[in-house]
Amino acid sequence: MNRIEIGPGQEFSLGGENFVITVPIKERRLSTSDAFTIAKNEPYIRVYEELASAFSPRSILELGIFQGGSYVFLDKLFKPRRISAVEISPKPVTPLLRYVADKEGRFVHFSTSQSDRKILEHIVPNELADELDLVVDDASHTYEQTKASFEILFPLLKPGGIYAIEDWSWAHSPNYQAPDAPFSKRHALSNLLFEQLMLMGSTFLISEIRVWKFLYLIHKANTALPAPDEGRNESGSIFEQILNRGREWSLI
Ligand SMILES: C[S@@+](CC[C@H](N)C(=O)[O-])C[C@H]1O[C@@H](n2cnc3c(N)ncnc32)[C@H](O)[C@@H]1O
Repeated sequence: MNRIEIGPGQEFSLGGENFVITVPIKERRLSTSDAFTIAKNEPYIRVYEELASAFSPRSILELGIFQGGSYVFLDKLFKPRRISAVEISPKPVTPLLRYVADKEGRFVHFSTSQSDRKILEHIVPNELADELDLVVDDASHTYEQTKASFEILFPLLKPGGIYAIEDWSWAHSPNYQAPDAPFSKRHALSNLLFEQLMLMGSTFLISEIRVWKFLYLIHKANTALPAPDEGRNESGSIFEQILNRGREWSLI
């Protein structure tokens, strides 16, 4: 595939669809029938572009739709058989609804939290044919909800699959240091990355974690056993498998 050309107005085209990059999302441009708004700037686009050159997910689940640009981008870039996404906002994005309406295997859920176990456990077998190969979490960026999604979805990810978590490093940015900064009362999302590193060290579930300043990719081992054998049950968490010599750690 040719390299995506991003124009001076932060616009690009892919697979017959037009996109406009809008970051930060507060300066919100709504998606229109001419172009979808995507809240990923060039470094993110390049990571996914490189990934798509060597990885062909059968089914994708996106957490955090915003204006739908990233949904259409992932669809055009990876060309999966199926793709679904959840978004907590109740406001549907009309151009995205139009996009999915005439296509097979394309689903969207508004008014839906990324940590809604019941819906996620419905989506994976029913909409994604139990072929979940790629999760992209660009939703709340909170430690608790991002972890909850991972606890639900990582066991459902196929061996060899990839779990992407965006914007993990916000707590380490100068803009988030003041007592009245956004998220100042929240735990850092980087706590979760540390826990996932410990999980990688403790088990054979994760073969690699590739970290950039703005996102990371967790590769599920090709040899990971199917979900029921991963030690997960309704009440348990995958993180219970961390071996830590009985020592405690505290969240920052
Ligand atoms: C950074 S934006 C997503 C941008 C989009 N993925 C893109 O790249 O164009 C984050 C989105 O996640 C949604 N969100 C926040 N908390 C959420 C939650 N708990 N569950 C699902 N979506 C959530 C927000 O409403 C917002 O639309």
